[in-house]
Amino acid sequence: MNEHDSEMIAGMLSELGYVQVPDRKEASIEILNTCSVRENADKRFFGTLGQLKRRSKEDPEYMVCVCGCMMQQQHIIDRIKEKYPWVDIIFGTHNIHRFPTLLGNAIREKEQKIEIWDARESSEQELPAKRLYENKALVNIMYGCNNFCTYCIVPYTRGREMSRAPEDVLEEIEKLAADGVREVMLLGQNVNSYKGEFKNPGNQQKARLEGFVEEDGICTFSHLVRLIAGIDGIERIRFMTSHPKDLSDELIETFRVTDKLCKNIHLPVQSGSDRVLKKMNRRYDSARYLDIVRKLREAVPGITMSTDIIVGFPGETEEEFEDTLEMVRKVRYDSAFTFLYSIRTGTPAATYPDQIPEDVKHERFNRLVELVDSISLEKNLAYVGRTEKVLVEGRSKRNRNTLAGRTDGFKLVNFTIDPSAFMEKGEACSFDEIAEKLTGTFMDVRITNGKTFSLEGEAVL
Ligand code: 5AD
Ligand code: SF4
Repeated sequence: MNEHDSEMIAGMLSELGYVQVPDRKEASIEILNTCSVRENADKRFFGTLGQLKRRSKEDPEYMVCVCGCMMQQQHIIDRIKEKYPWVDIIFGTHNIHRFPTLLGNAIREKEQKIEIWDARESSEQELPAKRLYENKALVNIMYGCNNFCTYCIVPYTRGREMSRAPEDVLEEIEKLAADGVREVMLLGQNVNSYKGEFKNPGNQQKARLEGFVEEDGICTFSHLVRLIAGIDGIERIRFMTSHPKDLSDELIETFRVTDKLCKNIHLPVQSGSDRVLKKMNRRYDSARYLDIVRKLREAVPGITMSTDIIVGFPGETEEEFEDTLEMVRKVRYDSAFTFLYSIRTGTPAATYPDQIPEDVKHERFNRLVELVDSISLEKNLAYVGRTEKVLVEGRSKRNRNTLAGRTDGFKLVNFTIDPSAFMEKGEACSFDEIAEKLTGTFMDVRITNGKTFSLEGEAVL
């Protein structure tokens, strides 16, 4: 979500005529879009901000802007005002669209502008984004979160849940498709609780005839996915994130019947211990989670799964941590994002007395990562010999003479390609030209090796 906010900020700057520079030293404006989900991000922000002080004092043309989740917390604003008074603009997560106005005012009036809103005004403040990828787009379908997991700051920084109208989402995706986008990632803190109100009663009527709309005239997430699948040009649909407590049978059925919905799900488990899950306020237990996994795998053979896991939640015992390891062994995730529990001021868990010592947290964390990685590697090695369809993203980051793309199951594939096939036909004469020609297209790739975080392969021409 922060990444998409950054795309929108870049989009607004482009419209104002600004261009992105390769080196921050050349920038006349620097914007730090912050995350506050863990303390490390907070620390890095203040570290980076400190480095900008000198130039900010010496160069009157240079602007420093800070925004994002951290700015929705009063103690952070107080600290910036006191220790970093030279920051030019501060805005929050609910008023990104105000950035051009704030920028104009700050430049004209040569004074600091601070504007933080407590809540989003409406669900229609979508802005033109400068996309990171030409053929893949992030699309907000809802904002905020109502779940209040006891460790998490997001409900406080992103506010209450608000779903965009289905028509607005569809219109945005139709425009993206016309602009060459082939894959959309639908974004929400908990997409399974999407409840879109149709703007047009005719659309609601039509949806009801198709058997989709719930009694109160609300469009569900599954219905939205099926409507998006009807848009020409869009070939892949993904979403992030799903809360297990709200994952419906209707969504599992949608996976089965909607070819365009990628066979991949990110389903944060957080812990394998029922007592810890209860203390986290997750509102499911390990048996229910495993049941969802079983149903998904039965309905969608080959579906890939990833998760989020927190290690060292207050009070977590060695046995409870081992329940998490057991969960990982049972589910066998394709990949997992693992986190050390981090105290977030203002959340209930921050006040729990039985915080886990750092060394214990780290020791558990290392054991978990070792297990997760070994399963990822085994899973990826099982792809060797298969041919996978990938959407080409461009040249690989590591090896500039290979291309990179993602499979339907979201696996990153770095693959080689025989340039002679293109050169003989006169379609290209350098690897650069080949890369440009193939970016954004779908290609068959034969997998030749599996690594922990990616696959390797060769293009089938
Ligand atoms: N400490 C550690 N990890 C956290 N997450 C959220 N809050 C915290 C915290 N206080 C993790 C959760 C969530 C992911 C985005 O970040 O696993 O799913
Ligand atoms: Fe945080 Fe829980 Fe909401 Fe996810 S569902 S954003 S972990 S409160």
